[in-house]
Amino acid sequence: MLREEKNSDSLLKKVPMDILNVKPYIPGKPVEEVERELGLSKVIKLASNENPLGPSPKAIQAIQDNAKKVNLYPDGGCFYLKKDLALHLGIEADNIIVGNGSDEIVSIISRVFIQKGDEAIMGDPSFLMYSIDTRLSQGNVVSVPLIDFRLDARRMIEAITYKTKVIFISNPNNPTGTIIGKDEMQEIVDEVPSDVLIVCDEAYYEYVDAPDYPDTLSWVKQGKNIVVLRTFSKIYGLAGLRVGYGIARKGIISILNRARPPFNVNSLAQVAARVSLQDNEHVISGKNLTGQGKKFLYEKLRQLGVLFIPTQANFILIEAGEKTRQIVLALLRKGIIVRDMGAYNLPHYIRLTIGRQEENEAFIREFQKALQ
Ligand SMILES: Cc1ncc(COP(=O)(O)O)c(C=O)c1O
Repeated sequence: MLREEKNSDSLLKKVPMDILNVKPYIPGKPVEEVERELGLSKVIKLASNENPLGPSPKAIQAIQDNAKKVNLYPDGGCFYLKKDLALHLGIEADNIIVGNGSDEIVSIISRVFIQKGDEAIMGDPSFLMYSIDTRLSQGNVVSVPLIDFRLDARRMIEAITYKTKVIFISNPNNPTGTIIGKDEMQEIVDEVPSDVLIVCDEAYYEYVDAPDYPDTLSWVKQGKNIVVLRTFSKIYGLAGLRVGYGIARKGIISILNRARPPFNVNSLAQVAARVSLQDNEHVISGKNLTGQGKKFLYEKLRQLGVLFIPTQANFILIEAGEKTRQIVLALLRKGIIVRDMGAYNLPHYIRLTIGRQEENEAFIREFQKALQ
């Protein structure tokens, strides 16, 4: 063994076991990778809950107009984006933290609020980054199984101990697409002790049409210990630029800002997010497209006799049975990327992003063949 290798081994041995045991997040396969590996020229990605319409044309224009300024550092405080968001949401700019995707805010929250031995409560399954970031903070993950594919608010409350620091609520929940309603969320807000932070991750907020979806910003305005997370990655179609934000009372935002890297949101992301926020037409088109796709997919899946979980988001959890892995591979060979839910402890399920009509049709066609 080379001396350098020995040295690097003794270096790695010093990394805490909690961190060594973290399983890295595996994202949906990028289109280019599948094209390269399988020699395909046309690949459909329905694996990462992106907007199939793409970004707003106004965002593309803003990116082009501002490209010549990328020699300058971005505004680290996202002054104008926060100002626009504050107006849009009816809150103040100091109630907002902007992140390199909402992912980054989950990681900042974990770094700030979770220390070695602390507990963070989350659904099982739920968005994987909650457990990864908790472990990276050397905290303990307290998983509460879903009931009927829904987060179990009562058991999440009962799981609180004196070590609990954070409760992560993905609403709608990724990967099930189900929501926690107003009353259950109110119970969580009322019963959680005052030294526990509620994180309500609303990445798919704009897609929800359930009448009992909670108005979480009202709790922020009341000064509760809650951070609401939203993102430009989904309905606004800016996943590649990485912009998300957190909304909370000013004291919480001010603490989170201490752990935020100084230039975490790049300048093109900031301008694109600002114009996307104003392009309501694009948001409505995205929502309508997903609504129509959802209807089509529900109908076809019912005809195939396949079980699925009705969704409030832009993806559907579908039961594919014991041959899920083979089905996912068969789809991949046809150039259709969907997400195998093995990493979410749902080995017999796939998660399908609702795409454009022709993409949904291609999925149904190939899925039917793969099932046979
Ligand atoms: C529930 C949930 N939260 C957060 C994210 C991360 O989004 P962003 O692109 O803003 O980091 C995702 C992405 O899939 C998600 O499903």
